[in-house]
Amino acid sequence: MQKRQNPASPPVPGGPARRVCIITFGCQMNEADSEAIAAAFRRRGYTVTDELKKADAVVVNTCTVRQRAEDKAISQIGRLRVWKEKHPEGKIFVVGCAAQKLGEKYLKHRFPFVDEVVGAKAIEQFEDALITQLGPTPETETAHQNLFRSPQTAYTTIMRGCSLKCSYCIVPAVRGPAVFLSPAAVLADAAAKLKAGAKEIVLLGQTVNSYKHGKTTFSELLKQVLALPGLQRLRFMSPHPLYFDAEFTAVLAREKKLARYMHLPVQSGSDRILKAMRRGYTRGEYLALLARLRAAAPDLAVSTDFIVGYPGETEEDFRDTLALVAEGGFTLAYCFKYSPRTDRPEMAATISGAVMEGRLEKLLAAVKNNSRVILNKRIGKIEEVLFETATYGRTSGNFALRVAEGGTPGKMAEVLVAGAEKNTLNGKVL
Ligand code: 5AD
Ligand code: SF4
Repeated sequence: MQKRQNPASPPVPGGPARRVCIITFGCQMNEADSEAIAAAFRRRGYTVTDELKKADAVVVNTCTVRQRAEDKAISQIGRLRVWKEKHPEGKIFVVGCAAQKLGEKYLKHRFPFVDEVVGAKAIEQFEDALITQLGPTPETETAHQNLFRSPQTAYTTIMRGCSLKCSYCIVPAVRGPAVFLSPAAVLADAAAKLKAGAKEIVLLGQTVNSYKHGKTTFSELLKQVLALPGLQRLRFMSPHPLYFDAEFTAVLAREKKLARYMHLPVQSGSDRILKAMRRGYTRGEYLALLARLRAAAPDLAVSTDFIVGYPGETEEDFRDTLALVAEGGFTLAYCFKYSPRTDRPEMAATISGAVMEGRLEKLLAAVKNNSRVILNKRIGKIEEVLFETATYGRTSGNFALRVAEGGTPGKMAEVLVAGAEKNTLNGKVL
């Protein structure tokens, strides 16, 4: 899990010079929560800083999806002991999935200098924690401000939690079952972000395409968001293979503003392992789904997640995963070593560290090799690029692309791809 810090944001005119440093671990859901937390601080006149030593408040947004992620968050909290000694008036907030899993009692006992613990299930209560620590929100509440890393991309959470029960996964336990936001809430959030300058909206949820609110399906919601003024491109993550229907493929085929990109975690290429993981599909069903999606959007780029070394994974199971890299045509894949997240004996790791490491290395090499092949296939094609600067942007398939000149920030343009280097395409604006 990456540790990311929010970029410094411009100071609020006339506001007191108080600063918050938000340290975010984990997935896009946490990033979106961190953005909401930053907004709550800004409403109180805080600015966001990435310099801990200049901060008056610190938020650690934690992840627990794999043991390593949890360990990193814990050691980050541990390092704040020194900060608190130097900033005795400063406030420390620990939030997110590891906060939910480990609990307030444990965390406050182990780290007595922590002021507030707010678990991922209760993130809506973050405002209450702020009121406890900092007093009520001042009257001078500012309007929504754009706090996003890429000035053009904004995240809109459409659901929280997950109602599936993949055997290896801790998310349902820490975030709870799926809860869907109303279409009105989703549209209001996306519209506000577009009004504040966003060009690209990313709809977020653990099984984002399982969205259902009253009569509104995921596809219906996509159509409604696509109709918002100012939107140049719509993305979503992460979908689950079980929830794509014919209604979705029809929308994908028709709506060109819907990105030709999908991060569709497969986890394993072995039917035996997929079954043990309770993923709900076979390798063949996953590949058939990819074929249906690509029939609707021939240039669709697909990335995925793999877990190696799931308990009982044989060499043959692993070979099935390895073979899926090329067969699935993945532009990139995140590969993880299995990390036991429960005390249940049947979920303990059975594959030795060395074997796990060896499989991971082989898989990473296959993924890298395949990425190059896929990238090179884009040469000679015309791509729709949303420019971030005059010379840099991203294609609908989420490839980074550079041109010598001619891009307009915030605008879409067609680019003829001339070459590919490392992970970046290059070309000429048409
Ligand atoms: N061990 C290893 N990887 C895991 N993931 C989730 N849980 C585990 C685990 N226990 C991976 C999956 C998921 C991604 C976000 O993290 O591949 O798609
Ligand atoms: Fe975890 Fe499976 Fe839900 Fe994804 S779909 S969050 S892997 S339980």
